[in-house]
Amino acid sequence: MPSPVELSDGDLVLRPWRDDDPATIGYTPRDPEISVYLGAPLSGAFPPPDPDAPWFAIVENGDPVGRIWFAGWKRPFEVGYYLRPDARGRGLATRSLDIVCTWMAEQGEETIELCTHPDNERSQRVAERAGFRRAGEVEQYARFKDGTTRALRYVWP
Ligand SMILES: CC(C)(COP(=O)(O)OP(=O)(O)OC[C@H]1O[C@@H](n2cnc3c(N)ncnc32)[C@H](O)[C@@H]1OP(=O)(O)O)[C@@H](O)C(=O)NCCC(=O)NCCS
Repeated sequence: MPSPVELSDGDLVLRPWRDDDPATIGYTPRDPEISVYLGAPLSGAFPPPDPDAPWFAIVENGDPVGRIWFAGWKRPFEVGYYLRPDARGRGLATRSLDIVCTWMAEQGEETIELCTHPDNERSQRVAERAGFRRAGEVEQYARFKDGTTRALRYVWP
């Protein structure tokens, strides 16, 4: 996997993630509004950094409004994303997913996975609009805030 590059489909830019992005965006995956459906690892510990798993800031008109990234040490690569609440409802997550999947395919990745909490209908709509299809469930995926561990599994293309 080459170093992440800047990707774009016009006014929406995905650029390599920077350490100061959480402060600029104003949210991290741990914020209550963001984290409802972002699970924690069942092991209790996040994996060490994976240099081959690209992370991007989602940048709208120069303003970082979210993140789209690939989970550490998972193959096939598994994508995750969040948007600042005021940046939702405009298609930015769907477009970002489309951009990164196309780029990953150009790098030779044949499959991308995506897992969502069964109640996360917004994320499921994003996945389906971006061309992912349902491929079963994972019973022991992550520890979600509601205490459950099950996720719906999607694959692309
Ligand atoms: C998941 C999340 C990113 C989805 O955000 P979102 O704004 O619903 O998704 P999009 O940016 O793709 O926007 C889609 C909405 O914009 C609308 N839209 C407008 N222009 C659009 C366009 N050009 N393309 C696609 N959708 C467009 C769609 O109709 C849709 O609205 P609807 O759901 O009311 O029909 C967001 O809810 C979030 O950050 N959640 C918290 C973190 C999380 O759950 N992450 C996923 C873990 S698997």
